[in-house]
This record gives sequence, C-alpha cells and structure tokens, in this order.
Amino acid sequence: MIAVDISRGYVDAPIEKQIDIEAEIKRMKKEKNAVILAHYYQESAIQEIADFVGDSLALAQWAAKCDADILVVCGVHFMGETAKILCPEKKVLIPDMNAGCSLADSCKADDLASFKAQHPGYKVISYVNTSAAVKAHTDIVVTSTNARQIVESFPADEKLIFGPDRNLGGYINSITGRNMLLWNGACHVHEQFSVEKIAELKKQHPEADVLAHPECKSTILALADKVGSTAALLKHAIKSDKKEFIVATESGILHEMRKNCPNKTFIPAPPADSTCACNECNYMRLNTMKKLYNTLKYELPEVTVDSEIAAKAIVPIERMLEISAKLGL
Ligand code: 13P
Ligand code: SF4
Repeated sequence: MIAVDISRGYVDAPIEKQIDIEAEIKRMKKEKNAVILAHYYQESAIQEIADFVGDSLALAQWAAKCDADILVVCGVHFMGETAKILCPEKKVLIPDMNAGCSLADSCKADDLASFKAQHPGYKVISYVNTSAAVKAHTDIVVTSTNARQIVESFPADEKLIFGPDRNLGGYINSITGRNMLLWNGACHVHEQFSVEKIAELKKQHPEADVLAHPECKSTILALADKVGSTAALLKHAIKSDKKEFIVATESGILHEMRKNCPNKTFIPAPPADSTCACNECNYMRLNTMKKLYNTLKYELPEVTVDSEIAAKAIVPIERMLEISAKLGL
C-alpha cells in the first residue's frame, strides 16, 4: 500500500478523471471482501451502493454477524467504533474521521464518571450516540429503536441515569412513567426544528402524518403522529394508509422513504432557519462517494478503539444486542 496523506481525517488523494467511481467501488468491494454499511442519513448515492442500509441498531447487528474482512461504515464515528468493538479482528474503515456527532460530544467520559460517583446506586443507560469511552462507563446501551423496551426491562424502582440525549430520555420517561435522571445533551440537527414551521406546513397538508425522531424537542414530539427511530418512521410510512408525511428528522431518510413508497409524498420538516440546510447532519454528510472510493482503495482511515476501553464497552453493547434479539427487534 503506498503512503497517502490522511492528516485531514480522510484520504487526500486525487482521483483519476476517467475513473467510474461507482464501478470501481463495486469492484474493490468484491476484490477485498469488503462490505459497506450505510446509515439512512447518508447521501443517496452512498445508500444506493451500500450492501446494507439501516438505523444505528441494525448497523450494529449487521456488523456483529457479517463475515467480511473489511467493514466500511458510512455513518458517524461512534457507529464505526461500535462496529470495531463488535468485530475487533476486522478492518473497520470510515470515509471521513471528522464525521462526529454533536450529541455524542455533549457527554465526555470523565464527566459521566464524576456524575456516576455523585449518584451511587444508579445504573447508567447510554444512547448508542456516545464514544466508546462513555460506553465503558455504561450498564447498557440503547438505540431509539429499543430504548423503551430496555428501560422497561429494569425494575420500576431501579434508579437510572439516561444520557446523553435529554429529549429521547424525557420522551422515554413520559411514555414509561419512569423518572430517570437525564444528561443535558442534545443533537443540533433535531433540536432546530420549529413548531411554528411544522404547524404552517400542516395547514397546507392537513391530511399529512407528522413523523418525528425522539431526538426532537418535546414540543415537536407532542404534535407528531408517530415518534420513532429512523427505521420505525420508515416502517410507519410504508404501512400507513396516509399519502403525505411531514418528516422531522435528518432529510437523508427521505431517500429510502421515497424508494419504498413511490406513490406517497414526503415533505422534509423545514429547518428553523430557511437559509441553511440544518435538517442535514453536517457530520453525516462529510462522507462522500469520492471519499468512499479512496477509503476502499487505500484501506484508510481505519477506526481503532483502545483495547482496555473496548473490553469494557463491549459488555453494555452486547447486553443491548441480546435483549433486542429476545424482543425480536
Ligand atoms: P437512529 O438510531 O434512529 O438511526 O438514529 C441515529 C441518529 O444519529 C439520529 O440522529
Ligand atoms: Fe449525531 Fe444528530 Fe448527526 Fe444523529 S443527526 S449523527 S445525533 S449530530
């Protein structure tokens, strides 16, 4: 393998003009026994070329069972870390290492450790949108697909800390009657949706169902017809008799919705500031087809997780996968 510059967090190498990027990605996948896992928030071309597209739970489940030599995780860094923790023997690549997550950044491992020390006797439930180091301080990991069921699997009087998403945690408290202590974190994409803009849109489309991810603020969730993970929102759209949907989550999910339901209309909830594309996750969108091509070509950049941290973090991840499998999730 020739030396390449990854000082910017991705392979900074020119691509020959005559190259058919799509065809080359397909060829290299086969040649290297590599699979591409993509989250629903990736750009459409990446979702189309991926071997598997799913929500964060499905990506972890897929990583755990797949037998490729190389996993290319087209998502954000914590998704790559989760795949690496579950498959330490595999090479796990991510097209752009800078693909972080504002929610994961809102909870640092040291801060969580101090918070735990201040609350003896509490169990820690961490959303999968956390670093491996935070997971290492966690009793069980959840995603938005299984959070409710996992919280309910604890005895009603169990003292629980839920982090880092205050909106998801607050929503789970409201539907389960629990009183979990909530970390004060949030996702900058989901927090920016505005009730006024969605209400305006609803006036123009009175028959439309409003679909919202639980990372949205409670005021948005209160006006939603369906609250759920990306996979749950997609499933609802497929099953529903409705013809129109206003979608309050990252707009990448619309690709799969439109593909599965060509006769239905999906309207992205507008960003609060109409001059920005704030309903796109700027981290997710750092991954591009060109970076994916270079990642496969040079097998860089590689996701690594400190082995001591990984040995601790795998415990709450595997607990989550076991419960999810029992629940058929
Ligand atoms: P899902 O678990 O619904 O895929 O969501 C992940 C995420 O990052 C939402 O912002
Ligand atoms: Fe993180 Fe929000 Fe982007 Fe999801 S949409 S990856 S929670 S920053």
